[in-house]
Amino acid sequence: MYDFKIEAADTETMYRDLASALAGLVEGEPDPIANMANAAALLWETLPDLNWAGFYRNIGGELVVGPFQGRPACIRIPFGEGVCGVAAATRQVQRVEDVHAFENHIACDSASNSELVVPIVRGGELLAVLDLDSPKFARFTEADEAGCVRLAEILAKAL
Ligand code: SME
Repeated sequence: MYDFKIEAADTETMYRDLASALAGLVEGEPDPIANMANAAALLWETLPDLNWAGFYRNIGGELVVGPFQGRPACIRIPFGEGVCGVAAATRQVQRVEDVHAFENHIACDSASNSELVVPIVRGGELLAVLDLDSPKFARFTEADEAGCVRLAEILAKAL
């Protein structure tokens, strides 16, 4: 049984705890879907104010929905489209305070108001993107971005 109850006093400590929990969860497990599934569950359990947490995988140059928590979502997203597609095409983190102001945001869940998307890259290859959505505007801070970049580094070795 895994029992990760992370109740850190500040965001930096929370992401440090999350990183060690994630590293423990994926250790010794080579299956990428299993690792993304547990990562999505861990993030969903730990981070407050989310309405979606999960992955889109790079399948032949198109994003395809992977393991997640939240409502059923858009299945395929072309590179360059939506916040996830822009993150995939540019390989740059997208931290969007108001998704309604993002030019080609794809509204999978009308509850989403802000979003953080982090590319997961290994050896120059885009494997997937980590996507977090929140009903709160400007939910994701620089500390969330830095913390999720660290989680993406751990996942890059586990996908
Ligand atoms: N809003 C995303 C689509 C994926 S869902 O949020 C789960 C986007 O614009 O890429």
